[in-house]
Amino acid sequence: MQVLKTQKALKSAISTLKSRKGLGLVPTMGALHQGHIALVERALVQNDAVVVSIFVNPTQFNNAEDLKKYPKTLEADISLLKEASEDITVFAPSVEEIYQTDISSRKYEFNGLEKVMEGAFREGHFDGVGTIVETLLRIVEPDRAYFGEKDFQQLQIIKKLVKTKEIPVEIIGCPIVREPNGLAMSSRNERLPKSLRKEAAFIYKTLKTAKKRFGTESAKSVTDWVKKQFKGHKHLKLEYIQITDAETLTPVKRKKGKTKYRAFVAVYAADVRLIDNIALN
Ligand code: PAF
Repeated sequence: MQVLKTQKALKSAISTLKSRKGLGLVPTMGALHQGHIALVERALVQNDAVVVSIFVNPTQFNNAEDLKKYPKTLEADISLLKEASEDITVFAPSVEEIYQTDISSRKYEFNGLEKVMEGAFREGHFDGVGTIVETLLRIVEPDRAYFGEKDFQQLQIIKKLVKTKEIPVEIIGCPIVREPNGLAMSSRNERLPKSLRKEAAFIYKTLKTAKKRFGTESAKSVTDWVKKQFKGHKHLKLEYIQITDAETLTPVKRKKGKTKYRAFVAVYAADVRLIDNIALN
């Protein structure tokens, strides 16, 4: 397994990598778990060369404390990747290698996708995500890039980004991987004390019941029900629940026959912010 730190070294390695089935990119911020490994495995099946980037991108953090506390576990990440395959190229650049001296993001418009939910609660977050994802796509020039549906809004935004910027890459969304109790896998779960990690199973349990209710109830009634569930919870604080059109991410006013809907939540467990979502139909 090669672990490369500079764009120059990566570009030179890539020039020997690209071949028949193509090149896959799995962008990550490290602290890898089985959710990431599922992306890597899909990439390994669909491509004959795979680059995994490990880069904690400072410009997508709206909260300095969150950035400081974000787990950095490069050695463990490399070991986990090695278990998946020795045949992976890891790109682990420094902040300076990516941003030089100007650690700031470009401004993007994603047709309103960036204004709701994570965009509304984390100012500038999607400008940071857009900046780093566009940068990585331009450095690696993959045929396919893989993102998890846990960050479903991010996935929709990245699809929009490559379309508007005409970046020739296929964006592949992969299903959420969950812990045995249903909690969506996330690098942030590592920061949860054991008892809270157990309690956080309530998030997915509530989403699953919301899905059932959505079959017969209005979006408003389901939203109110979810809010009520979290109000009654001692350790979890709901930041938002939003039911939207899965494509445009616009909040549902009245359900329409063929439209696909999704429910999204952000929840605080102590100071750890967790997000999750579910397809409703
Ligand atoms: O989903 C993530 O881990 C990050 O937002 C990404 C896509 C790697 C960009 O930093």
